[in-house]
Amino acid sequence: MPKNIPVMISGVGYYVPKTVVTNDEISTLVDTSDEWIRTRTGIEERHVVSGSENSVFLGVNAANNVLSHTKVNPLDIDLIISATSIPAKAYPSVACEIQTQIGADNAVAFDVTAACSGLIYAMSIAKAYISSGMYKKVLLVMTDANSRFVDWSDRSVCCIFGDGAGAMLLEPSVDGVDDIIEIDLTAMGKLGDYISLEISGKNCPLVKPNEEKPLHIHMAGRDVYKFVMTYLPEKINKTLENAHMLADEIDYFIPHQANLRITDALTERIGFNKERVIENIQKYGNTSAASVPIAMTEAIQEGKIQLPCTAFLTGFGAGMTCGNAIVRLRKGIA
Ligand code: COA
Repeated sequence: MPKNIPVMISGVGYYVPKTVVTNDEISTLVDTSDEWIRTRTGIEERHVVSGSENSVFLGVNAANNVLSHTKVNPLDIDLIISATSIPAKAYPSVACEIQTQIGADNAVAFDVTAACSGLIYAMSIAKAYISSGMYKKVLLVMTDANSRFVDWSDRSVCCIFGDGAGAMLLEPSVDGVDDIIEIDLTAMGKLGDYISLEISGKNCPLVKPNEEKPLHIHMAGRDVYKFVMTYLPEKINKTLENAHMLADEIDYFIPHQANLRITDALTERIGFNKERVIENIQKYGNTSAASVPIAMTEAIQEGKIQLPCTAFLTGFGAGMTCGNAIVRLRKGIA
């Protein structure tokens, strides 16, 4: 008989690298301006990795942040899932490298790639494992360092991304209440060309050569914008319907921080209360999988989110993927 153990979100944390790049600095690299970037995206500055910092470094810091807050012994963690599109190495996985560096020697560890929907995809996996009784303490680490792979001469892409990591600890609920009220995932591989980072490599010298592609993010910005506005409102409404909830019954809307214009349009279309929308793209840009957990943790720590509460999380990005979740956030999680 499958078990159905309710899941508790027991902690959230984040980390961003110290180095900040402003819009004015970007305008020394490409033909753009602070005014263009602010008005088209909402972004004012972003944090980027420097020197040897990478997605593992960011993830370890975010993981340690949540572990020290929750006072969990790393040896008690059963599973680490890292949601990342920018692994430091193709292998070993980011999750295995984080496992070693935080001393979670008893954990199973693997990565999941769902780009900016990474948190929601990883949460759904954690929920399945915890609900079935297979694992108890599950650490999710969402970490991306896209600044390493943008073409710094492509003005429509280089201003968008920033680097960072978020972490979330989940475990069986102590009071029978399930903090994951609803979760819904979508993948549309047919639209995969809208955002891609091709790792072409180089064929064996004994065979016909392949076409080597530059290691840069390709993004069709307009198509991405249209994708979000065409499909996401319907998906968000379906998630609300499945939970038998209305938008105005949700305390906070925490969307993926991709573009302020997208957030405003979604908020308006769904009917979320504008005062209850969490935004921090101004400071961080689009940090991909890390964006929702960074926005959530920072808003809790700054008192913009009052706990306990309900929150609607939405992620969308390369794949193309979407993920929506309605969650309960308990007192003391950050
Ligand atoms: N500074 C100045 N001009 C820029 C620019 C920049 N940083 N980036 C693009 N432009 C120019 C283009 O070259 C183009 O010029 P042209 O008309 O002379 O050819 C013009 O602005 C319009 O380009 P377009 O790409 O159509 O702009 P846009 O209004 O769609 O804005 C984005 C571009 C990227 C900001 C916007 O499409 C967007 O945010 N899309 C969603 C991207 C996203 O969220 N991605 C992540 C999803 S996880």
